[in-house]
Amino acid sequence: MSDIDVTTLRDAVALPTPATPYQGDIARYWNHEARPVNLRLGDVDGLYHHHYGIGDIDHGALGEPGAADYETRLIAELHRLESAQTNVLLDHLGPIKQDDTLVDAGCGRGGSMVMAHQRFGCSVEGVTLSVKQADFANNRARELGIENAVQARVCNMLDMPFTSGQAAASWNNESSMYVDLHDLFAEHARILATGGRYVTITGCWNPIYGQPSKWVSQINAHFECNIHSRREYMRALADNRLVPQAVVDLTAATLPYWELRATSSLVTGIEEAFINSYKDGSFQYLLIAADRV
Ligand SMILES: C[S@@+](CC[C@H](N)C(=O)[O-])C[C@H]1O[C@@H](n2cnc3c(N)ncnc32)[C@H](O)[C@@H]1O
Repeated sequence: MSDIDVTTLRDAVALPTPATPYQGDIARYWNHEARPVNLRLGDVDGLYHHHYGIGDIDHGALGEPGAADYETRLIAELHRLESAQTNVLLDHLGPIKQDDTLVDAGCGRGGSMVMAHQRFGCSVEGVTLSVKQADFANNRARELGIENAVQARVCNMLDMPFTSGQAAASWNNESSMYVDLHDLFAEHARILATGGRYVTITGCWNPIYGQPSKWVSQINAHFECNIHSRREYMRALADNRLVPQAVVDLTAATLPYWELRATSSLVTGIEEAFINSYKDGSFQYLLIAADRV
């Protein structure tokens, strides 16, 4: 038996260059990802997210546990909270004009890109390491008839195919924990116009706690990522001409989502780590909006 896996070889061919072995791992992870918690939620209205939700649970919409349609309602409610998260990110992009270009770094299956285009009417360029995700996002854009404005590409967000100053705004929605923050923010600062806005929503470990807790380490292992501290975000932004305009602690706002998700049939096993780390103060869910100066 050969010790070379054909799947691995095929995926390797589809990788963008330059790619580190770690980026190869991440591309494979997302090429093979098909968790019901992501797909069934996206099926609700065709907006496919790979991030978490914020806001209060609408118990009226959920109905009674045990009712025949309870699980369907629960899925719709989790999805509503995930789209609410995107709306909060988009609220922080500032005034965007129709002829502007936005960049979604680590765009996943493209839910945030579609929402950004629907809100602002502008072009949205997405990048992901995963061929499967880029194809999925581009197919969705075609189905919606917005393929001229919304486009996903397979490439490395540390080396994006955009000219300097091209983007009016750019963001990372739960994708900054896969890269070195100094490299990432240097690249955002390059593609952003002066005065442009950068926004991230991310989990980060809390320096007040001291070091990453066992729950944070568990989340890193589960997603093959490297969660940074809040302090690292602030330092790397400041070092790269990105001046924080708003820092919003969304930790309390995301807990209801996790507690609801933990009761569903779609659990992935990582719910406890999120709930415990948010509650013991070792982990925070933050939005940071920064101006490119
Ligand atoms: C948790 S998903 C978030 C997807 C999307 N932002 C959302 O909110 O639905 C993480 C994404 O980051 C992307 N990613 C990770 N490292 C990357 C890199 N170096 N360059 C481009 N994309 C990357 C993955 O391919 C994946 O699409």
